[in-house]
Amino acid sequence: MVSKTALITGVTGQDGAYLAAYLLEKGYTVHGTMRRSSAPNHYRLDRLGLTPQVGGAFHLHYADLTDAMSLMRLIAALKPDEIYNLAAQSDVAVSFSVAAYTHQANGLGAVHLLEAVRHLGMASHVRYYQASTSELYGDGPVWPQNEETPFRPCSPYGVAKLTAYWSTVNYRHGYQMHASNGILFNHESPLRGPNFVTRKVTIAVAEIATGQRECLMIGNLNAKRDWGHAKDSVDGIWHITQHKEPGDYVLATGETHSVREFIERAFACIGADIQWQGEGVHEQGIDRKTGKVRVQVDPQFFRPTEVPLLCGDPSKVRRELGWQHRISFEQLVTEMVESDIAQLKAQLTAQLTS
Ligand code: NAP
Ligand code: GDD
Repeated sequence: MVSKTALITGVTGQDGAYLAAYLLEKGYTVHGTMRRSSAPNHYRLDRLGLTPQVGGAFHLHYADLTDAMSLMRLIAALKPDEIYNLAAQSDVAVSFSVAAYTHQANGLGAVHLLEAVRHLGMASHVRYYQASTSELYGDGPVWPQNEETPFRPCSPYGVAKLTAYWSTVNYRHGYQMHASNGILFNHESPLRGPNFVTRKVTIAVAEIATGQRECLMIGNLNAKRDWGHAKDSVDGIWHITQHKEPGDYVLATGETHSVREFIERAFACIGADIQWQGEGVHEQGIDRKTGKVRVQVDPQFFRPTEVPLLCGDPSKVRRELGWQHRISFEQLVTEMVESDIAQLKAQLTAQLTS
């Protein structure tokens, strides 16, 4: 067991919740930041049984990446050994609508944290982890993507994350900080936000399976992603931060699948065989057994610019840190569908008995 103190920004998010549980298991004292919201936003922490208690090892604090003083104050008071900057406006599609805010939170937010560490005289002993992303590669022509592949971000989200990426490298070189980037490819779980494509699909499949809905409306069926499991990702994040030398690491499975394949696999979990008919916006996914239309394309989910293909090359992280993903694509999809069906059934039962 270790007796370190970690500060996680964005602990109420998918990765933040899993990372908090992972570090607590290792014996860390964990401080997480949350935002004020008009409705409770800690359901993921609740699902993992993470409740702050007096005298306990898990603590929650209000802070916002756009509020530099809130971060400075926390770092000064907590003197963490490790800072994991996971907070972000993480929705690529939404970043086209709130571009300036996305830059402030995802780009400047990282600068606020790095500056706080430097100004507090902690640069030589704090370890800093930056949640960088495969969105940095954008619509570049090269794949599989590795640490040497040129960045060509093509969304406000991706461009903002580029600021955070290079700031992390700059503080490493300029101030000898142990500051690392994890260039993470998409990773999912039952705790994934419902607006991301995987969870949107598994919720729809669960609702169709329980007779709550007829059809899934979807955007670009042909986009391809390297989808791993968030639990594997947080293990990689920790290994990056523990490494003697700071650096930049791709965390990926090395496999890529289309949105179409994800949908087929998710429907297969409820015994439905999806057949595709038509083209472009008229394409439909039909249940071969029943003839019912289960998937339709809706152009409102298209983006102004799209990242067509992500497939990571995790050779460096395997070689240097011995990390590799454990949970397969098939296991991931099955776990997500089963979790959504179980949750929905529990809700329906609760409604019937109340
Ligand atoms: P997520 O579920 O959307 O969680 C984001 C977290 O950031 C939430 O706790 C959110 O708070 C918080 N947050 C948002 N804006 C904030 C602000 N201005 N100040 C403080 N906190 C703020 O994202 P995730 O999937 O866990 O991803 C974690 C990080 O990894 C993000 O930086 C994301 O960009 C990056 N990343 C994710 C993936 C992926 O596939 N999941 C891949 C590569 C990189 P609320 O709960 O209140 O919204
Ligand atoms: N969200 C969504 N909704 N995406 C759809 C839909 C839909 O109805 N239909 C098709 N897609 C396509 C998107 O156009 C995109 O090509 C792909 O599905 C994945 O979209 P998301 O699940 O929203 O994730 P993302 O790849 O844009 O971004 C996620 O991964 C990044 C790492 O590559 C986020 O977690 C980012 O924060 C992360 O950095």
